[in-house]
Amino acid sequence: MLSISSHPLIQHKLSLLRNRSTNIKEFRENLEEIAGLMAYEISRDLPLREISIESPMGPCIGHELDRNVVLVAILRAGLGMVEGISAMIPNTRVGHIGMYRDHESLEPVQYYSRLPEKLHEAEVILLDPMLATGGSASEAITRLKEAGANGIKLVCIVGAPEGVGRIEKDHPDVDIYLTALDEKLNDAGYIVPGLGDAGDRLFGTR
Ligand code: PRP
Ligand code: URA
Repeated sequence: MLSISSHPLIQHKLSLLRNRSTNIKEFRENLEEIAGLMAYEISRDLPLREISIESPMGPCIGHELDRNVVLVAILRAGLGMVEGISAMIPNTRVGHIGMYRDHESLEPVQYYSRLPEKLHEAEVILLDPMLATGGSASEAITRLKEAGANGIKLVCIVGAPEGVGRIEKDHPDVDIYLTALDEKLNDAGYIVPGLGDAGDRLFGTR
């Protein structure tokens, strides 16, 4: 399933991310805020269990989440989405997968992994703003499955048709959430129009 959020607040903030004049602070803030707004859609089907609670007026039946949520950020740029979503979803645990794209081959190179335990019991939400060729996300999903995850959602900001196609082919069980499906990749593997290099814009490294 591919879901593209057309919410006006998200689209407004996405345009700020795309704008080359947006500075590092604004980029960081808007990325975090978009991720927070996406939390509503991403969490729509989380299972609930009934609980007994005491309101000031007496006992009643309430609800709490029945499945733990684990956020996994693909370093570096996925880090910019963690705070926004964890502010909305109670008690998230956070894993990190370090991965960069080789500039020549565009193949992902993993350099770090630290994941919470009992992934098989959790709803796992994989975060990376950019879904370009889809190589990084596909590899990260494979690693999550090897670690036991069986309910994975992929949450990105901007996707290219090539990346969406890659995930649908490699991992048809994974739902994909975007705020925009862009036109294409350029010869260097960047999304067009995209927003540039997300990691560099987030951390000011170029
Ligand atoms: C970017 C981005 C994704 C990846 C997407 O990371 O954050 O992880 O590229 O490209 P793909 O879909 O073709 O694999 P990058 O390699 O620039 O690493 P960085 O975040 O550390 O800069
Ligand atoms: N990684 C990015 O940060 N941006 C792109 O457009 C493609 C890959």
